[in-house]
Amino acid sequence: MVRVGIAGLGFMGWIHWLAYKRIPDMEVVAICETDPIKRAGDWRSIQGNFGPPGEVVDLSRVSAYDSLPAMLANPDIDLIDICLPPAMHHDVAIQSLNAGKHVLSEKPMSLWTDKCDLMVAAAQANKRQLMVAHVLPFFPEYAVARQVIAEGTYGKLLGGRFLRVISDPQWLTGFYDPNKIGGPMLDLHVHDAHLICLLFGRPKEVISRGRVKGSVAKYWNSFLTFDDPDQTVCVTSGVIDQQGRSFTHGFEIHLERATIHFELAVIDGKVEAMPLKIITASQGVIRPEMPVGDDVAGFEAELREAHRALTSGQPSKILGCELARDAIELCYRQSESIFQAQGK
Ligand SMILES: NC(=O)c1ccc[n+]([C@@H]2O[C@H](COP(=O)([O-])OP(=O)(O)OC[C@H]3O[C@@H](n4cnc5c(N)ncnc54)[C@H](O)[C@@H]3O)[C@@H](O)[C@H]2O)c1
Repeated sequence: MVRVGIAGLGFMGWIHWLAYKRIPDMEVVAICETDPIKRAGDWRSIQGNFGPPGEVVDLSRVSAYDSLPAMLANPDIDLIDICLPPAMHHDVAIQSLNAGKHVLSEKPMSLWTDKCDLMVAAAQANKRQLMVAHVLPFFPEYAVARQVIAEGTYGKLLGGRFLRVISDPQWLTGFYDPNKIGGPMLDLHVHDAHLICLLFGRPKEVISRGRVKGSVAKYWNSFLTFDDPDQTVCVTSGVIDQQGRSFTHGFEIHLERATIHFELAVIDGKVEAMPLKIITASQGVIRPEMPVGDDVAGFEAELREAHRALTSGQPSKILGCELARDAIELCYRQSESIFQAQGK
């Protein structure tokens, strides 16, 4: 049994809570939350853009703390699951690792690469696992793409195009603040930056061009190359202010003998999708059956991978902190390229 303490019971804390309920070998034994109403189990104020609305939950078997040091003093917790705002991740992760806990932190690992380095060092010094909850590789279409690539049936991975664009998230205070949320690069694109590092490794060259807002990138296109000269990747990401299209994501991944394609948008509040397809060189188009309507499933798969890593002692390649750190570095390389080209 992996006993979990969740730090921060907002949107992500709630989604993780629901996912843990599906995993018999993981139990939430504690929460840490500054809001006394949430500490009492009333989570109806939680707001998110997917998943079921917050409910009143039974916390009679859960210790509810109002401060992190109090939760860390509980010897019955194995894993601290950090679902706090991004600017807090590094500090809370390092405190938790120093207290002898394993850590799973929500993305982004940190808003700053030097803090990521300190987090990795704290995990190594304390011999504890530090994982970053990058859920995208566990979303069904992305999981199938990973599997198709890994099986090697269609040959070498040649490159791809990764898309993630939202409308202005006006409900998020501090979205464009580099010290609070970090703008679309660190909040939004970090998902694809992580996936790209997972599939291709660290890019050799990063060329990005786009628009900025204050001191963060707002909308951009990037071109990435790798040690293998055959591999190239394009990225389109950021914010476009037309509120009628609140969300778009997708990819086109090129293998020697197949292209894997998927795109989904929310337009006028309705989902419009081009479902996952494997367009092969000689076997026509394969349309894998995809589960629909379960927003928690990807998070459940992510937490099951964290459980596997902790109980086997074999760290996760997907959730590992070094990869998450590379994703933050890739975000910064793209931002620097955009600002340099703008002469800023
Ligand atoms: N993987 C995904 O798809 C996804 C989606 C949304 C958010 N996130 C990430 O999850 C993290 C949390 O985002 P969110 O949307 O859940 O935020 P949120 O604002 O809904 O929740 C944060 C919670 O932390 C609590 N909190 C703040 N300071 C605290 C403290 N000092 N001690 C204890 N509790 C404290 C707040 O009261 C709130 O309940 C962010 O890093 C965000 O990037 C990931």
